[in-house]
Amino acid sequence: MPSILDQIEPLERAALDEFNAATGLIELDKARAKYLGSNGAITSLLKQLGGLPKEEKPAAGKRLNEAKSRVEALYSERREELELKAALPDEPTDFTLPGRRRTLGKLHPLTQVTDDIVRSFRKLGFAVADGPEVEDEYHCFDALNTPADHPARDIQDTFFIDDGSVGAPLLLRTHTSSVQIRVMQSQPPPVRIIVPGRVYRRDTSDATHNPTFHQIEGLYVDKDVTVGDLMGTVEFVFREMLGEDVKLRFRPHYFSYTEPSFEIDFSSALVRKMGKDWLEIAGCGMVHPQVFENVGYDPEVWSGWAFGFGIERIAMIRYGINDIRLFYENDIRFLEQF
Ligand code: DAH
Repeated sequence: MPSILDQIEPLERAALDEFNAATGLIELDKARAKYLGSNGAITSLLKQLGGLPKEEKPAAGKRLNEAKSRVEALYSERREELELKAALPDEPTDFTLPGRRRTLGKLHPLTQVTDDIVRSFRKLGFAVADGPEVEDEYHCFDALNTPADHPARDIQDTFFIDDGSVGAPLLLRTHTSSVQIRVMQSQPPPVRIIVPGRVYRRDTSDATHNPTFHQIEGLYVDKDVTVGDLMGTVEFVFREMLGEDVKLRFRPHYFSYTEPSFEIDFSSALVRKMGKDWLEIAGCGMVHPQVFENVGYDPEVWSGWAFGFGIERIAMIRYGINDIRLFYENDIRFLEQF
């Protein structure tokens, strides 16, 4: 049996050779166990040191520790190398290939139209407000001076979601006008707000109707507000959104919360392409004094106007879309076009 000292050199060489020859992590770790593991060859030499005669111990111990450090250092080096190799693909990478682009999502066309309308009104100093979609009859109808026999209050036309046996009946709001009331109740005049939001009616879905759709409400309250302010504001926003060739027409109408009231008709090259001269797009008017009374504003001091647009209607005109249901189907082939 050769002395411990004599065994060190060949053992170290063998370990270094095996570590160098390893082509994968598993092979490398097997070699490590063989030499450095708890039953490994180098480890067992270390254990034998204790049995050596006193005078041989220091030289053998030193030599063995040096060998062990070198073997361990090579192990770490090889491990790093082989880990890197394992992370890289076997095939060489062709860095000249174009990368795979991540597809970016887009805003829904209704969101784009809403954002554009909001942007135009912001330029005029309007702030965005919102209110609940589940509303009570008071905010949706009574406070807006809408009489008890108005058809909007019929269950044929409105989604009532409870009968009021607990408190006031709750319903899905039929228009964003309810938010006019909530805002005026919560702050003193002047008021300059727009309210984009979802509304609900018991309509059967067809090319121009859907039980849920979107509106933008506007409300302006200050001293000495006129119909001229209303017309100027609405015209400014529509020109920004749909182009300079836009024509608007204010037609007398009736809404219980405005007096006088108008419907706004709209005409442009796009509308004419649809085979019509005018298209009705909004309701508006001067806020009814009774509405001011209901929210505690003095109608002798304050005046104002309000309007409500259908957002789908505007988007349909803007993009030449002939069926409202396309907005809700989430067909990617449709949505990708905007
Ligand atoms: N709320 C009406 C509707 O849903 C639209 C409307 C008309 C809103 C006149 C208004 C207004 O603010 O003054 O058809």
